[in-house]
Amino acid sequence: MGDATADGRPETATEPPETGGAVPGLDEAGLLLEIDGAVATVTLNRPERRNAMTFATWRGLAAIGRSLPAAVRVVVLRGAGPSFSAGIDLGMFSGESGGLPDGSDPEAADRFIAELQDGYTWLRRPDIVSVAAVHGHAIGAGFQLALSCDVRVVADDAKFCMKEPALGLVPDLTGTKPLVEIAGVGRALELCLTARTVHADEAARIGLAEILVPRAGLDDAVRDLVGALLAVDAGAAAATKRLLWQAAGNTLEQQSAAERREQIGRLRALFGT
Ligand code: ACO
Repeated sequence: MGDATADGRPETATEPPETGGAVPGLDEAGLLLEIDGAVATVTLNRPERRNAMTFATWRGLAAIGRSLPAAVRVVVLRGAGPSFSAGIDLGMFSGESGGLPDGSDPEAADRFIAELQDGYTWLRRPDIVSVAAVHGHAIGAGFQLALSCDVRVVADDAKFCMKEPALGLVPDLTGTKPLVEIAGVGRALELCLTARTVHADEAARIGLAEILVPRAGLDDAVRDLVGALLAVDAGAAAATKRLLWQAAGNTLEQQSAAERREQIGRLRALFGT
């Protein structure tokens, strides 16, 4: 595993990347984890099912978050095959791929869903920057996974769809908050309650894609972004992420105080004895 060089970029790999041996059960979860120095790449890896996700997938994602080496600064999420993810494995509705809870024990169902949400929430951790590389379909749980990431790099063939309400459900994998923050309540409502497909150009227009590239350029665009992210001081990056994520919920006074606190930490790190 190569360490970061002085400018923060990963060294050219001299050994094959690690493949998630430390996290058991990823194969069955349809996940592939590769760690190369400061960069972890998580691949949704059931292309024959368009990367449809099961409980095992969400638990696997949570396990990856828990076991991430401290050296990792950027996590890239991508999909194998023609789609990012077709969302929940529809076999779960028929019990074929593990049944959904029936809600008759609300406390148990609450705990159950919270555990699945853990697969998404760690992507907001300040010590990492999470990047979704989205191509093809990103439906339901797949759309929410992209929304959980800090930055979305989107190929021009991407199609987002929040399908849950059309199936009688609500989006519950932590996607409603970022969707509203990005697109506004009105647009979020219109997208969710019509379950319509948002194509890449519209996604870029309404802020769902920070970077829009031709499909063939997706990997290069992600590589360039990762390089740029790693070139920034790690402590400053974590502190800035903490600040930016709390800004919307803070008053100007609270945010100004948070900026002072973080800056004092940075000054201490840079110039303290
Ligand atoms: N769950 C289980 N299997 C799936 C899913 C899914 N969500 N999506 C696709 N597959 C399977 C298909 O059944 C098919 O299997 P088969 O080869 O045995 O027939 C295979 O993956 C390929 O699917 P196609 O439909 O042939 O692929 P295509 O590229 O034409 O279409 C698309 C892809 C648009 C994603 C389509 O498969 C689709 O609409 N899937 C369902 C999406 C959905 O409703 N997801 C639930 C969202 S709600 C939530 O996530 C909570």
